[in-house]
Amino acid sequence: MGPPDPILGVTEAYKRDTNSKKMNLGVGAYRDDNGKPYVLNCVRKAEAMIAAKKMDKEYLPIGGLADFTRASAELALGENSEAFKSGRYVTVQGISGTGSLRIGANFLQRFFKASRDVYLPKPSWGNHTPIFRDAGMQLQAYRYYDPKTCSLDFSGAMDDISKIPEKSIILLHACAHNPTGVDPRQEQWKELAATVKKRNLLVYFDMAYQGFASGDINRDAWAVRYFIDQGINIVLSQSFAKNMGLYGERAGAFTVICSDADEAKRVESQLKILIRPMYSNPPVNGARIASLILNTPDLRKEWLTEVKGMADRIISMRTQLVSNLKKEGSSHNWQHITDQIGMFCFTGLKPEQVERLIKEFSVYMTKDGRISVAGVTSGNVGYLAHAIHQVTK
Ligand SMILES: Cc1ncc(COP(=O)(O)O)c(C=O)c1O
Repeated sequence: MGPPDPILGVTEAYKRDTNSKKMNLGVGAYRDDNGKPYVLNCVRKAEAMIAAKKMDKEYLPIGGLADFTRASAELALGENSEAFKSGRYVTVQGISGTGSLRIGANFLQRFFKASRDVYLPKPSWGNHTPIFRDAGMQLQAYRYYDPKTCSLDFSGAMDDISKIPEKSIILLHACAHNPTGVDPRQEQWKELAATVKKRNLLVYFDMAYQGFASGDINRDAWAVRYFIDQGINIVLSQSFAKNMGLYGERAGAFTVICSDADEAKRVESQLKILIRPMYSNPPVNGARIASLILNTPDLRKEWLTEVKGMADRIISMRTQLVSNLKKEGSSHNWQHITDQIGMFCFTGLKPEQVERLIKEFSVYMTKDGRISVAGVTSGNVGYLAHAIHQVTK
């Protein structure tokens, strides 16, 4: 018997709990202010358009829906990007962010002969390690988070990254770092870019939260675009799970920036050879929805408003959590809760405190003290602050 998944295990325990005040802050899915899963209006409209067209259910090409992959690349790179306009990139559809990462990991395993080593931030999203390991890569780490300040350990990161052997692979979270919610500032990204360029590292950007972090798709893609502008030919995974709320539709994309359009064609041919025996071709429905939203001006406009609405609700819950903690009388410095960005907050709670929150207050979260701020609402933020104060005073 294998062990249960650490995050999905939290949901199982939550479901068994009969306390009416219980909260599930483990799972990384957006909830509205009533704590309910949220389907975006633009998604409902796109679905209605698809249903009205009575489209067929034929297989997609191996690389996915062309309108979708083009629009995904444009969303990440920006419409004025030289790499995008010149066609020196290839984007294939993946099975959401996870599947796109797995295509990338297998691609690097097969073709990146310089190194097996993938350097992850410490900590990183829990699935990065098995994704790269199962693809035959070796995992290494660089310092990223400082538990003492609950913020970025920038000097530690720079120190470690400047010592990574040349031509290794480094993974960077493009925005809304999971699990810490801590991102480099733009000046720090610039220093990071200069260092990885000097070390000749292959940069793998994981962008699972574009638009979801700040509410602005361009701001959240800033680092990705800056690195490409610096002549760094990155690889990139994208997910539409969070920013379009398409979790179960599994819409994502994997992109390789190439030196020219010819190289992009060759890379594309190899990606198809890699994907064909994995799952033959990707699922059609989520890609149709995302593609309609990205390519229909009215729907795109509505989406941008909705994604900002989700980001703003999360930002406001962070502020309310801190003010409620103060109201409870907590004297700790909780500024990191509002400084951090995106769906997750690394609270700094110790495993024993997390244990008490679960046992005494039915507030569920992962052992590392990470909470999904998306699970906090104006109805339960007071209870959460009370519970946190009780275990930290
Ligand atoms: C950093 C990061 N990458 C990738 C993913 C992939 O998610 P999905 O496969 O649902 O798109 C997630 C989801 O939590 C994530 O946080």
